[in-house]
Amino acid sequence: MSYSAKIGPSILSSDLACLGSECVRMMECGADYLHLDVMDGNFVPNITFGHPMVECLRNCVGPDPFFDMHMMVSRPEQWVKPMAAAGANQYTFHLETTTNAGILIKEIRESGMKVGLAIKPGTTVEELAPWAGQIDMALVMTVEPGFGGQKFMEDMMPKVSWLRSQFPSLDIEVDGGVGPSTIHKCAEAGANMIVSGSAVVSSDDPRSVITMLRTAVSEAIQKRSLDR
Ligand code: DX5
Ligand code: ZN
Repeated sequence: MSYSAKIGPSILSSDLACLGSECVRMMECGADYLHLDVMDGNFVPNITFGHPMVECLRNCVGPDPFFDMHMMVSRPEQWVKPMAAAGANQYTFHLETTTNAGILIKEIRESGMKVGLAIKPGTTVEELAPWAGQIDMALVMTVEPGFGGQKFMEDMMPKVSWLRSQFPSLDIEVDGGVGPSTIHKCAEAGANMIVSGSAVVSSDDPRSVITMLRTAVSEAIQKRSLDR
C-alpha cells in the first residue's frame, strides 16, 4: 500500500486576519499539509481568496508546507498558472465545473502541480472513475461546499469505500464536518487524506486533535493491509 495518513487543516475557520500565523501554527501542531479553500461566489455561495493571498502565505510559511488548493470556482482552468506561480503544490478542481477534465489535468501537470479531483455530494463516484488513473487524489466532499462548520454526511462513505476498493493506492481525501467524532467512519471507508477545519482550528489543543485523527487513519490502513 503506497498511501499514508495525512491531516490537512482547513484554515477557513481561523481568524482570517491572521492567516499566515495560523498556517504556521497548524504546521507547528503537526499538520501534514494545508488545505486552502478558494471560493469564487459563483460555483459556491461564498467568497474567500485567490492567488495573491497564496503567494503571501507561501512567503510566510517557507518552501516546505504542502498547499492543497481546493478550487471551488466555476472556471478552474483560469487559475492554474497563477496558482502554480504563487507556490501551490496541488490543484484540486471540481468535476462539476468542466466538460473536459482531461485537458485540465494535463495543464495542471504541465504547470508542475499535483492533480486533485473533487466531487460534490450530488455527483456520483462513477463519474469520477474514468479520471482516477490520471489523478493524484480524489476528494469526496462530505458537505455541500461553501462553508466550514457543517454537519458531516455519513452517506458519502460508500463513495470512499468504492474508490478504495477500485483504486487501492489512490490518495482519497474527505472534506467537511470531519473531526474526532466522525473520523472513524472516514478511516474505515478508506480515506487517507483528512481535511479538518473547525474541529482542529477551533480546538484548545489542535496538536492532540491532529494526532488523534492521524492515529485513527493509520490504524485503519494497518488493519486493511493485515486483512488483505
Ligand atoms: C467547505 C470547505 C472545507 C471546510 C471544512 O466548503 O471545502 O474545507 O473549511 O471545514 P469543517 O471541517 O469545519 O467542515
Ligand atoms: Zn475544502
